[in-house]
Amino acid sequence: MAALEHTTAQSADSLGFVGIGKTFPGVKALADISFSVRPGSVHALMGENGAGKSTLLKILSGYHAPTTGHLNIDGQELVFKSTAEAIRAGVAVIQQELQLVPEMTVAENLFLGHLPARYGIVNRGHLRRQALDLLKGLAEEIDPNTKVGRLSLGQRQLVEIAKALSRGARVIAFDEPTSSLSARETDRLMTIIARLRDEGRVVLYVSHRMEEVFRICDAVTVFKDGRHVRTIERLADITPDQLITLMVGRDLADIYDYRPREIGGGCLKVEGLLGQGLQQPVGFEVCQGEILGLFGLVGAGRTELLRLLAGLEKHKAGSLSLKGAPVSLRSPRDAIAAGILLCPEDRKKEGIVPLASVAENINISARAHHASLGCLIQGRWEKANAEKQIRALNVKTPHAGQKIKNLSGGNQQKAILGRWLSMPMQVLLLDEPTRGIDVGAKSEIYAIIHDLAARGIAVVVVSSDLMEVMGVADRILVMSEGAITGEVARAEFNDERLLQLALPRTRA
Ligand SMILES: Nc1ncnc2c1ncn2[C@@H]1O[C@H](COP(=O)(O)OP(=O)(O)OP(=O)(O)O)[C@@H](O)[C@H]1O
Ligand SMILES: [Mg+2]
Repeated sequence: MAALEHTTAQSADSLGFVGIGKTFPGVKALADISFSVRPGSVHALMGENGAGKSTLLKILSGYHAPTTGHLNIDGQELVFKSTAEAIRAGVAVIQQELQLVPEMTVAENLFLGHLPARYGIVNRGHLRRQALDLLKGLAEEIDPNTKVGRLSLGQRQLVEIAKALSRGARVIAFDEPTSSLSARETDRLMTIIARLRDEGRVVLYVSHRMEEVFRICDAVTVFKDGRHVRTIERLADITPDQLITLMVGRDLADIYDYRPREIGGGCLKVEGLLGQGLQQPVGFEVCQGEILGLFGLVGAGRTELLRLLAGLEKHKAGSLSLKGAPVSLRSPRDAIAAGILLCPEDRKKEGIVPLASVAENINISARAHHASLGCLIQGRWEKANAEKQIRALNVKTPHAGQKIKNLSGGNQQKAILGRWLSMPMQVLLLDEPTRGIDVGAKSEIYAIIHDLAARGIAVVVVSSDLMEVMGVADRILVMSEGAITGEVARAEFNDERLLQLALPRTRA
């Protein structure tokens, strides 16, 4: 087995999963998974939320021991008992929650555990040079003396990759690596992954994003409910639609299922709004029962606009009214009291209480809201509400009392969405509501958005996915560089025109 030395990949043998099963209390996460991955290829793992993808990677990384089965690397049967063993065997798993120490510098992180020292003294200059060497071709703009906490998420990921390579990793697995990256960072990562493949390493790639999988992957294995559905050696042999059908086990003729509705009178009216992130005064109205899409590229000011509307940021100018009555928003509490709710983009980071149960995570805001009104809600209401949200959002959990941290990523997201849907509301502001959520769950969320609108709620949906906004909205406002650049009604939706409106006019 390779020691901790700076080797480059020799042509690795294939990686095999043999009869892998994993049972958690009350949950069979994986059962009898067997397939192998060729060296010099990128192999996608796909499947709905809770299918078992992350669990398989955690077994590969030595974090979880499998209940049954073993791995096969270099013709050797292996079961890792710790992450250190997996690292020694040349396996690196780049998790979504990155493993670096934010308070330490890039160089220190890269050599953590084997700092180049002479007579017990770390040689800073030497350390820096070696770090620069490792970052070459990956992220040359990063200064090794920077604290990791100051890097962007994409840069941290690259440091993690550099670290894996420094330990001679021949098997590298990525768990939803692009879910928080910008388009440019994603492009760079794709280039690096292609290089890892060309160097003959084994690359595993978990993602819900079809375009990425078809762009970068050679083969794909589909999971469903912890079982192996099929491995397709040549991705080129199937279409995205066929892949989706394999994942969800049914045809998704129209995941948006757009239903025209009777649109009511004015609901939220915004006039001359200015504040953080807005370069020009913003004005628009959204009606009762209307789904208003807010499209724009990353950095266009959409999230900032939603934060102003939800009272999370103070506006500098302008006014808001709700069904004709002026509202003043001095705090998020004012917005919640008025029935204006924001479901933020990073639901997981902003809102999860990991050690609390799924039910508590769903009820937490409703409880606080009722308490602020001076009335206590009853345990019975909370129990019924948690069950209702779990059912409506199809959250995969053995029961409402399960700790939320034990749910798969996508199911945590759905549970947090349930928290907002438990509150009384007039206006629902959704920031990237389907990010990190699989295609089957997406269509469930679109159906929920339509139901809310049918009940007269005004819904504003921010999304960077053009197909998604066009699929779900009655009308689209486009933002670019902190201003609204256009408005398009459903009958006139046209992807080219919408993109035109979203592109920056001036080059910075
Ligand atoms: N530590 C744990 N304790 C109990 N159950 C767990 C634990 N980790 C995962 N599970 C369960 O195992 C199943 C598979 O979860 P996993 O995280 O592997 O799914 P996934 O395919 O990665 O989904 P997603 O796309 O949502 O990230 C889920 O039902 C999840 O709730
Ligand atoms: Mg996962």
